[in-house]
Amino acid sequence: MIDRKGTRDMGFDGTTVVVTGAAGGIGGRYVHAFAGAGANVVATDVPAASEAGAALAEKAGAAGPGRAVFEPGDITSDDDWARVVARARAEFGAVHVLVNNAAIYQGIAAKRPLTELTTDDWDTVLRVNVRGTWQGIRAVAPAMREAGGGRVVNISSTVARMGAPGFAHYVASKAAVDGLTRAAARELGPDGITVNAVAPGLVSDEATRTLNTDDYIATAARGRALGREMVPDDLVGAVLFLASAAGGFVTGQTLVVDGGGVFT
Ligand SMILES: NC(=O)c1ccc[n+]([C@@H]2O[C@H](COP(=O)([O-])OP(=O)(O)OC[C@H]3O[C@@H](n4cnc5c(N)ncnc54)[C@H](O)[C@@H]3O)[C@@H](O)[C@H]2O)c1
Repeated sequence: MIDRKGTRDMGFDGTTVVVTGAAGGIGGRYVHAFAGAGANVVATDVPAASEAGAALAEKAGAAGPGRAVFEPGDITSDDDWARVVARARAEFGAVHVLVNNAAIYQGIAAKRPLTELTTDDWDTVLRVNVRGTWQGIRAVAPAMREAGGGRVVNISSTVARMGAPGFAHYVASKAAVDGLTRAAARELGPDGITVNAVAPGLVSDEATRTLNTDDYIATAARGRALGREMVPDDLVGAVLFLASAAGGFVTGQTLVVDGGGVFT
């Protein structure tokens, strides 16, 4: 993946990819896509999701050609990050790519006006979505430096641009991920590490159906240039591109993938 020979491609043979939030609706799709493209994948998610995560990794690895393992970990725990990185090194010898996909999204449970959010609600979401994302970058950076470079793909959201109502803490957290992406790109660029974000629009997955009515989802679909509901597969090309050698001169960017819903 990392462009050692001057080639610009989207092959991932010999590349180790860590995907967080792997047991969620979208994270699992990334695990399958990377393993299918030849990468070795360390899938991680909270310990409570270990059964689902292990089953997912087994299935993705069996389909190949890349391998996949599951290592439980909370992204807000430095100890857990150390274990995830150690597992990647032990299984596959390195870390080249981090997809910082984990976040509290479905975990928000219900949308509420900002006047009804508690300070605990706020702190919990910012702690996971922002601090945990930074902790991941901090944990993998030394391994990426050792490997001669790397790719970080953070997962933002179009709500950071739209200011969608009902979950101000989540919206603020994704805007912070965009800022973190730019800061980390500046700091890690000299080490050959690119840091970008993908901002999905509303994806029709279980998490979205928990938080929104069918009518809300249909309205979002109609507001897109491409006029249809978005599925996890729609994100795969953008994430793989930013993780690949082909994306090697793109950094500090947030790539909106929403079928033409927001143009900013
Ligand atoms: N679904 C959408 O419409 C949508 C839109 C824009 C952005 N996103 C983003 O895409 C990503 C995936 O979304 P999803 O729909 O799969 O959400 P999801 O809620 O189904 O999955 C999130 C995953 O993150 C994990 N997670 C939560 N807290 C964690 C922690 N502390 N440590 C480790 N893992 C933790 C959860 O266990 C879960 O598996 C998230 O970053 C989300 O914010 C989703």
